[in-house]
This record gives sequence, structure tokens and C-alpha cells, in this order.
Amino acid sequence: MESSPNCILVVNCDGTIRTVNEMTERFFGLEKDRVAGMPSREVFEEPVEAIIQEAIRGRITESLELVIRKKQGGRAVLGVSSSQLRSRDGTVLGAVLIARDLTEAKRSEEWMRRMDRLSSLGQLSAGIAHEIRNPLASINFNVQFLARQLDPDDKTRKIIDDTLTGVERIKGLVKGMLDFCRPAPPILKSESINRAIEDAVSLLDSQFRKHGVRVEMALAPEAPDVVFDNQQIHQVFVNILLNAMQAMPQGGTVRVESRVEQDAKKPRRRLSVTFSDSGTGIAKDDLPRIFDPFFTTKPEGTGLGLSIAHKILEQHRAVIECRSRVGQGTTFTLRFPIDEGRSDVPV
Ligand SMILES: Nc1ncnc2c1ncn2[C@@H]1O[C@H](COP(=O)(O)OP(=O)(O)OP(=O)(O)O)[C@@H](O)[C@H]1O
Ligand SMILES: [Mg+2]
Repeated sequence: MESSPNCILVVNCDGTIRTVNEMTERFFGLEKDRVAGMPSREVFEEPVEAIIQEAIRGRITESLELVIRKKQGGRAVLGVSSSQLRSRDGTVLGAVLIARDLTEAKRSEEWMRRMDRLSSLGQLSAGIAHEIRNPLASINFNVQFLARQLDPDDKTRKIIDDTLTGVERIKGLVKGMLDFCRPAPPILKSESINRAIEDAVSLLDSQFRKHGVRVEMALAPEAPDVVFDNQQIHQVFVNILLNAMQAMPQGGTVRVESRVEQDAKKPRRRLSVTFSDSGTGIAKDDLPRIFDPFFTTKPEGTGLGLSIAHKILEQHRAVIECRSRVGQGTTFTLRFPIDEGRSDVPV
């Protein structure tokens, strides 16, 4: 029981805790000696507590998936089963609850699902984008030609201008689709991520000022260089910063931080970059879809900004995650591997 990779907890008939194993202590952030003898309702929250009570009453649970909030912060997915604990003569002694942490497995499942969808959608979109490009170039050329033939105050000028605006928008969309579907292989160099952050922020400086957006920077002075494609990562930072600005229509603050992270479980250090805004936040139901191509909540959006960012980061073996609260703001965290003088640069 002690060495089990699952959380195991045993309660008595009166609902007091008999014992918990080491995994339970770690997962729920508790101490066995302190909780033994305590009523389980004082230790566990709903819905775990409800399952314990039902199990005592003989109603067992089989492989139920629960999303719970961890004391240490963050959410986790648990697969929970329970049963009644009986002595040999059939007397009910209490209940046993076994829970497996499914968080990582769920994350991989979601990842695989997304990759699968992206690859088929990618092939289709690349084909369409490619086919649109040539006729679009001739429409653009012809409309510009017509515009030159008109008097400056000709009434049809407005129609021509609207057409050109529409053509520009389709051009942007087609470029986005091709960037997403057939990204150029990255040109990798060991460079300063802090500088790339500063470049992206300064590019958007005048737009930020116009929209009342204040930028706070806290960049790690000791950040080692990272191997990346400057142009592509610049595009990623710009996409994320633009989204932050668009999420703050009344203005607000974007905080950009870089930090060197050393995870005890992973041998290599990573450089994390976070972008936190004080904007509208993202609805819980939308959060799993923000990296999907064409997912947008904006009337003028293409929904490609974050999917391109995701794809580029993947080619850099970097990861991106998003936390958000409606009405409070959104934080994107990017983690880049630090190349500690090794030759296996990411591709
Ligand atoms: N910082 C943010 N705050 C709130 N919502 C966000 C933020 N970043 C992304 N989103 C949500 O994710 C969606 C997808 O973002 P993405 O950048 O891929 O596309 P878009 O911004 O809608 O369009 P485009 O980038 O092509 O202009 C957005 O429409 C928005 O709903
Ligand atoms: Mg965007």
C-alpha cells in the first residue's frame, strides 16, 4: 500500500480516517500522522468526500474521473474507485478509496488529439491557400489598375477601396494559413531571448501607447542564450502581445518576465517567458480551443495567431501553456530548453 503509485485512503464507518498512503500525502498535501483519526470531511473536499460517504454506505464508485483543485495550486484529473471495507465475517469496517493521478495522461491525450486534427486540417488548408494565391494576385493587380483609371472624386472609388481592403485581408489570411501549414524550417542561432522580447515590445510600442497599454518588464539579467530562429520567435511574441492588447480594449498592463528554471525532475534548465495581461480573460470552455487553427472570438480575427505560435514553438522544442480567468486576465508561459553547451540543438 505504501509504495503504490495510486492514492489509497481507508476510512472507518464513522467517517474518520484510518490511514492514508504516501502518495495520498503527497498528492493532497497532508501528513498521515496528523489526519489519522480526523473526520474525512475536515480533510477532503467535495466531490471526494461524497464518494467516501457513499462508499461507507455501500455505494461503490468505479473509475470516475474528477477534476479537483490541488491545495498546492493548479488542477488535477483523478480516476477514482471506491469500495466498502468488510471483515471476513462480513461486518462493515469502513471504506477504501483508490485514486490515480490522470493529469499527465489526459494532457498527452489532448496533445495527440490536437496533433491529429492539425495535420489533416493543415494539409487541406495549405492546398486551398496555395490555390487562392494566384487568382488573388491577379484580382489585386486588376483592381489597382482600375483604381488608377478613376478620377479622385469618382463615386465608384469607395467600392474599389473596399475591394482592395478585402483583398488585403484575404492576403493576410492566406499568408497566415501558409505560415501555419508550411512553416519554413527555423534558422537556429544561439541568441538572447531577452533581446527578442525587447524587440517585439518596441515594435508594438506606439500601438500600446495608443491603446493605453502599459508594459512592465522583469527580464532575468543572467539569462543564458537560447537556440532559436529570431524571426519566428519574434512573430510568436508579437502574436501573443497583440492578443494581450486586443483583450484590453480600455487599456491595462502587460507584464513580461523571463526566468531561468531548474526543475528537480528534469536535468536541463529551461528559460521561461511569461506574458500576463489584465484583460478580459478567456472563458473556460474556450481555453482548450485557443491553439486550434481558425478558432477566434474576434469579428476580424483569423484565429491563426496562436496556432502559428504553437507550431513554431514546437519546432523549437519549446512548450506554451495558458492560464486565464474571466475578468482578471490571461498568462501565457513559454518554456525554451537551454542548450548547456551540447551539440544537439533542437530542430
Ligand atoms: N491574451 C488573451 N486574452 C483573452 N483572450 C485571448 C488572449 N489570447 C488569445 N485569446 C483568445 O484566443 C483566440 C485565438 O487567438 P489567436 O491569436 O489564435 O486568433 P485571433 O487573435 O482571434 O486572430 P488573429 O491572431 O488572426 O488576429 C482569440 O480570438 C481570443 O478569444
Ligand atoms: Mg491573435
